Amino acid sequence: MKRKWWMESFGYQIYIKSFYDTNGDGIGDLEGVYEKLDYLHELGVNLIWLVPFYKSPMDDNGYDVSDFYEVASEYGTLETFKKVLDKANKLNIKVIIDLILNHTSDEHYWFQESRKSLDNPYREYYIWQPPRIIEGKEYEPTNWSSFFGGSCWKKDEITGYYFMKIFSDKMPDLNWESEKVQQEMIKMAKWWLDMGISGFRIDAASHLSRAPFEDSNMTNDRYVPDFSKYSNLPMVHEYLKLLDDQVFSKYDIMTVGEVGGGASVESGLRYASKDYGQLDMVFNFDHNWCTKKVNGEEVTDVVRLKYVFRKWIYGFKGKGWNPLYWLNHDHPRVMSMYGDMDYFEKSAKMLANTLYFIKGTPFIYQGEEIGMTNYPFTKLEEFRDVSTINHIKFSLENNPGLTEEEAVKWHVGNSRDHARIPMQWNSSRNAGFTEGTPWINVHPNYKEINVENQMKDPNSIWNHYKNIINLKLNSKYREVLIYGDFEIVDYNNPHNFSYIRRLKDKAILVVNSFSNQNRRFMQSKIKGYEFDEIIFSNYEDSHISPKSIPLRPYEAVVLSLKLTK
Ligand code: NOJ
Repeated sequence: MKRKWWMESFGYQIYIKSFYDTNGDGIGDLEGVYEKLDYLHELGVNLIWLVPFYKSPMDDNGYDVSDFYEVASEYGTLETFKKVLDKANKLNIKVIIDLILNHTSDEHYWFQESRKSLDNPYREYYIWQPPRIIEGKEYEPTNWSSFFGGSCWKKDEITGYYFMKIFSDKMPDLNWESEKVQQEMIKMAKWWLDMGISGFRIDAASHLSRAPFEDSNMTNDRYVPDFSKYSNLPMVHEYLKLLDDQVFSKYDIMTVGEVGGGASVESGLRYASKDYGQLDMVFNFDHNWCTKKVNGEEVTDVVRLKYVFRKWIYGFKGKGWNPLYWLNHDHPRVMSMYGDMDYFEKSAKMLANTLYFIKGTPFIYQGEEIGMTNYPFTKLEEFRDVSTINHIKFSLENNPGLTEEEAVKWHVGNSRDHARIPMQWNSSRNAGFTEGTPWINVHPNYKEINVENQMKDPNSIWNHYKNIINLKLNSKYREVLIYGDFEIVDYNNPHNFSYIRRLKDKAILVVNSFSNQNRRFMQSKIKGYEFDEIIFSNYEDSHISPKSIPLRPYEAVVLSLKLTK
């Protein structure tokens, strides 16, 4: 495959609202990003993904855009953004931003117009349907559910029609069949690219087209979670192709589309294969929930994790490129998912080794580099995420007798707010995130887990991340770690996730123990190679016995290999 700058990038995702607040209003801002760019440079990343900072009523923290050409006042101004871009460029950090194609806010001018009458010129911008009348009773046009709970339709009283909204009630879906919508989006994407950004993370990329409006019989629910009705349908590719032809292909940029759950490797390739894809990469969610119950306890399903990575990385071999990420702002913290709090530091480092030496472009999610964990939510009032709140309320409405505490327990594990609690900068008040009152609670563990402590400690998780980035981007192993083939070894072993990276005569073995017991990795598992020397590890004294590597709890070792044939 032709080499591209973004294959050699190490990314970092910033959830602005929770990153760093410089004006004391309790909300992170662009000035905060500006101030912390030096921090990111010090960590070593050379690409940042900024989540939406467009003008927005913030029903979904900015994914509900009311003006694509303005910056949300709580985040700053366009000038502040330009300042961020300028400084990032000077530090050799590329900036990508979210491109939101599927919906706008209901406060966007287009929607305000669209709802006014059946013949308003903006009517076609959104998806409107008349109510269904069955035996004199009125129903939504279909029984499909929304991702955020309840129906994917909402009635608008002005014309009595329903508009489609697969996310929140305040996020009407755009009608991509309309050429006017297509042209608006082309214009908007160019406007941002001309400002000097280096690409887009394309939000909800797989949802731009809908099946015919017929009920789903997938389940008997009142609202059926049959996401196939609005995911990965053929026309999505036509819309993205239009954007690629008229916009993306004209710039030296990268695009990574969110295709989420339910996308197969085949459909992933339809989006992002080098020959006929419309995008450079796609984010899938397959590795986000690889746990299983053992003796009533939720544990990491290591073989399942290997299965998922094998599927995607092998499936894309020679045909495309994958992004690598443990979590984003929609997922629980990886430490709470796959880590072990009894071996906090070791398991956090092991998880980083497991992921970031795989072939692909890494994206660290803010706070991951210090091992931030899920927040201990117990009450409805502590949540801020519209999706979590809707799901809890919906469960309470539909399950008479269910208490709030029980409903919170049902949904807390999946809550997107775990990733959205404030970044833990230091041990001062509010973890150094804000001088004001934070918009969402700060994790009580910030005195122990914070950036300042970890930057000072050469053995910290933070310094381990820095070393990984350095090894991947700046060491003599750069070529093999970026472009080398990826092959999983000892596949069926439920205790370790190990693989070889190979480029011509250079080979690297990456061994990661997911076990809290002592284990061993046998040289016999890597036919055609012998152990050479240890390059990097999460224990100070990792070593090779002649034919095996002894592995202590969560030991993670990277070593060079000698080719024997
Ligand atoms: C995916 C984003 O990551 C998520 O945060 C958002 O709620 C939905 N798309 C809707 O924009």
